Amino acid sequence: MNDSPKRAFPHRHLLGIAHLEAIDILHILDLADTFLEIGDRAIKKVPTLRGRTVLNVFLENSTRTRVSFEIAGKRMSADTINISGSGSSTKKGESMLDTARNLMAMSPDVIVLRHGAAGGPTMIARYVDAAVINAGDGTHEHPTQALLDCATIRRHKGRIEGLQVAIVGDIDHSRVARSNILALSKLGAQVRLCAPATLIPRGIEAIGGDLTREHVAVFRRLEDALDGADVVMMLRIQNERMAGELPRFPNTREYSRYFGLSTNTLDRARPDAIVMHPGPINRGVEMMPEVADGERSVILDQVTYGVAVRMAVLYLLGGGLRSDALA
Ligand code: NCD
Repeated sequence: MNDSPKRAFPHRHLLGIAHLEAIDILHILDLADTFLEIGDRAIKKVPTLRGRTVLNVFLENSTRTRVSFEIAGKRMSADTINISGSGSSTKKGESMLDTARNLMAMSPDVIVLRHGAAGGPTMIARYVDAAVINAGDGTHEHPTQALLDCATIRRHKGRIEGLQVAIVGDIDHSRVARSNILALSKLGAQVRLCAPATLIPRGIEAIGGDLTREHVAVFRRLEDALDGADVVMMLRIQNERMAGELPRFPNTREYSRYFGLSTNTLDRARPDAIVMHPGPINRGVEMMPEVADGERSVILDQVTYGVAVRMAVLYLLGGGLRSDALA
């Protein structure tokens, strides 16, 4: 598993999977594997980022990602400070440049930023000296989620190359889907996207150019998308991003009937298929409780891996010393 060639991590920020090569992704996954064990220790702390400051700035709602970055920072001994919620000053009309200047006045080494607008973290990265990590920007990218998903898949399946991965649900509004399409294609998996036609953007297969054109296919029927799949990743309908729009599907009950994952529909996938979800789950809508809690579900492993992956990213971008990494 740890056979990827070693080289220095060549990026200052983590703004999206689009900027990473397969070798960078494997570098992060290998490092996350080594950090995973720290979570099982009685004292879950290494001195790697002692004296470094990590600002977690969440301008959109988050539970898992925010807590996971906070725990990851604390396990690396960084000082982590959280700024969150709709009470932040961007909502009061502060410009991106002013936000960036104010954040820099606190001298952070790393800024973890969740932003409602696609490109928010990229813009901030232009103005600040700190390393910027995109923790989800609008419907654009959510790179650490895709990395933790890849880490979880690799852990359970032993590889990613050649796997059939079905991603089902609100693809249109999903930054998780976009980042996963890129990451999984770069690592050689085949990606099957499935949703009502109104929830799949036209041309999504081409978001990563020829690479994703070769690795991504769109399916209209859930049964077809799941047929022989190794991994089934379900997504939430992001109602909060559709406020004021015409409905994209007739009603939730019908959506659930045609696109919800039940023990019945899961039967189409390989017998050893794993079931994933980035959370939060809408039980009974995209996934029935017996599947969410069933033996093929690795949803809580995703959360555990999320901490290890974020430790790895903080380590690479926050200036940790390798010799300290596991001390
Ligand atoms: C996702 C997100 O915020 O993009 N959740 C997460 O980060 N764990 C997906 C979602 O909200 O449905």
